[in-house]
Amino acid sequence: MNPKPHVAVVGATGAVGIEMIKTLEKRNFPVGKLTLLASARSVGKKLTYRGQTITVEELTKDSFKGVDIALFSAGGSISKEYAPIAAKAGCVVVDNSSAFRMDDSVPLVVPEINASDIKGHKNILANPNCTTAITLMALYPLHKAFGVKRIFASSYQAVSGTGAKAIEELKRQVEQIVAGQPVTKEVYPHQIAFNVLPHVDVFLPSGYTKEEQKMENEGRKIMHHPSFRASVTCVRVPVYRAHSIAVSAEFEKPVTVEAARAVLCKAPGLDVVDDPEKKEYPLPLYAAEKYNCQVGRLRKDSALDNGLCFWVAGDQLLKGAALNAVQIAEELLK
Ligand code: A2P
Repeated sequence: MNPKPHVAVVGATGAVGIEMIKTLEKRNFPVGKLTLLASARSVGKKLTYRGQTITVEELTKDSFKGVDIALFSAGGSISKEYAPIAAKAGCVVVDNSSAFRMDDSVPLVVPEINASDIKGHKNILANPNCTTAITLMALYPLHKAFGVKRIFASSYQAVSGTGAKAIEELKRQVEQIVAGQPVTKEVYPHQIAFNVLPHVDVFLPSGYTKEEQKMENEGRKIMHHPSFRASVTCVRVPVYRAHSIAVSAEFEKPVTVEAARAVLCKAPGLDVVDDPEKKEYPLPLYAAEKYNCQVGRLRKDSALDNGLCFWVAGDQLLKGAALNAVQIAEELLK
């Protein structure tokens, strides 16, 4: 790999794409050249990187000539169409969509957990689902210590996970309600302002949604744990940024709060924020824009054997997307 790679961001104008550009800059990723790609609608739009103005170009089949690394976040159908083209052109793709995550030939990576899976790549690597990635940042170290059997979880997912249009929808609806005007809906099937929607992604015949099923499928692949089970309810909440997940986990071995805390305090990319007496616990408002995820509300689960409850929050645009993608790119340069 070129030590000063030519990097392309596909979906550069989107909620995740903008964070990818910022993360490359903040982490001093040794970008040789940066190409910003989006749809025809955005051609000519100007974005800044390291004080330099870069003009957005249209994504085409010829966009990847000479590009070493492409960070994709323009949705599954764009990834399905263009990631193989980029890979064939010799570019390594880090894809944020769900298009290739469960493909056996594509490593699905959270660098703190399974960075060693990267080495088998065939020019396409996948970034996990945001809720799964944030949950695993706390669950995986506990799994290593105590052996997780299954989890029951509910998520509290920010609107920015749906993209830039959903951020505008929440803002617009709040303004409409405050002004006493009728609420208009474009992105979500119901009003999201002052409401919660137990509906993220599409419903499956099982009654779970695709998003809920990702925790088990992707969790098994990332943790190399084929018998891991997860029963999840994913909920969209009127929060701009950062997802939170309430988890009840059952382990093979007995687990105490003290032993769990000792494990979590040493876990990379994770901060323990857990002092209920001082009203300190992870909050999406404070987890937003932070690289590390936060875990707290540790307690013995009263309804499970060898069970532990915890609450984990993390910026899904960062650890759930842009940061994780840039961390994978960093691993490619090692
Ligand atoms: P554009 O802004 O030109 O529509 P978000 O997840 O925030 O909605 O962002 C989606 C990203 O994917 C945007 O950068 C968007 O570009 C990009 N995108 C959507 N459709 C296409 C397409 N057909 N070709 C290239 N980029 C696309």
